[in-house]
Amino acid sequence: MTKKKVLVTGITGQDGAYLAKNLLDGGHTVLGGLRRNSEGKHHRLKELRIAERINYLELDLMDQESIIRSIKETRPDELYNLAAQSFVHASWNCPAYVSQADGLGTLYILEAIRTHSPETRFYQASTSELFGNAQVSPQSETTQFNPRSPYGVAKLYAHWMTKNYREFHGLFATTGILFNHESPLRGSQFVTRKITLALARIALGQQQTLELGNLDAQRDWGYAAEYVDGMTSIVRNGTAEDYVLATGKTHTIRAFVECVSKMAGFEIEWSGQGEAEEGLDRRTGQKLVRVNPEFFRETEKIQLVGNPAKARRELGWTSRTSLPDLAELMFKADYDRVSTNSVYF
Ligand code: NAP
Ligand code: GDD
Repeated sequence: MTKKKVLVTGITGQDGAYLAKNLLDGGHTVLGGLRRNSEGKHHRLKELRIAERINYLELDLMDQESIIRSIKETRPDELYNLAAQSFVHASWNCPAYVSQADGLGTLYILEAIRTHSPETRFYQASTSELFGNAQVSPQSETTQFNPRSPYGVAKLYAHWMTKNYREFHGLFATTGILFNHESPLRGSQFVTRKITLALARIALGQQQTLELGNLDAQRDWGYAAEYVDGMTSIVRNGTAEDYVLATGKTHTIRAFVECVSKMAGFEIEWSGQGEAEEGLDRRTGQKLVRVNPEFFRETEKIQLVGNPAKARRELGWTSRTSLPDLAELMFKADYDRVSTNSVYF
């Protein structure tokens, strides 16, 4: 395969790190878009031992000039826009910022590609949060969108702009509507990593209790390292299209906690209800989990679960790692990090 020059925004994030690793392993050149205050946040790239192999560019979604400059000067073969303020809950605290960065920032990229590098193949990181309060389940590429957060609304704007630049300007502009994907590199504010990190700390006597929101919320969780393969397949496909990447299965937060607790050597037993619910270790009585309403969100009335049939059929992509295997990968990584005092967030 020809060696490509690939620009990845959000290079310091979970997906940016895994994607960069795959691209470098494939012999491609990786240009990593970094905002000024990302400096010092290379821990994921260091963990994958690729931090030194990336050519960094200053690129901030809030700064149109930095986007134009990066694209005009490098004219990449492919551009993956993974940068975003990606924490859904926090988007209610900064709705204007999220609209600008996640929404308008994508438009800036599309405009710069159209003007300075129209041969660049573009990937936009769309999300199952576009479906938000979904009306049908499972959700596919043709399901109606109904976002329920500033993050979801900003990502919908970016999604529609990408589709419009494809259909109106003829750019090779694609989207992946990705359901949740996790890994040992996941940010610690997201629920799976919050759980694996806390239970590793509790097992090692460095934390008492884990506080969570809705224990019965469900998610369709896959392994991030496999989802970045899907991104590349979308971009290298014959036609520019939109694809759902998902496992097609959901699990509750409660089930994930039970699975990780077992790995940490606990036997969790639930008692109480609603805000008073607690998870206790059957043998010692230690309170492992407590509900904290601060982390509550609106519960989806209809399950968010993806239908990845189009990706399977047209790209040959499937999610392979089961949730218990993913939980084990994550817990082991956090247990090692806590044991060696090398935790990052
Ligand atoms: P992540 O770990 O939160 O990484 C986000 C990246 O965006 C970080 O590198 C961050 O840089 C960068 N960033 C934030 N604001 C920026 C700005 N103003 N300018 C430039 N860069 C900025 O997210 P992820 O889990 O890797 O997800 C990657 C993308 O997929 C995101 O767009 C997310 O919304 C989307 N997505 C994720 C999932 C999932 O389950 N992971 C599912 C669907 C869609 P700093 O290091 O400086 O903060
Ligand atoms: N974060 C968090 N913290 N979530 C909790 C907690 C808690 O203490 N307790 C329960 N949850 C529930 C949330 O209510 C939600 O239903 C679920 O756990 C998952 O929350 P997150 O892990 O924060 O992920 P998310 O689904 O909101 O968003 C992630 O996936 C999206 C794709 O669907 C992010 O990666 C988004 O960027 C991405 O678009």
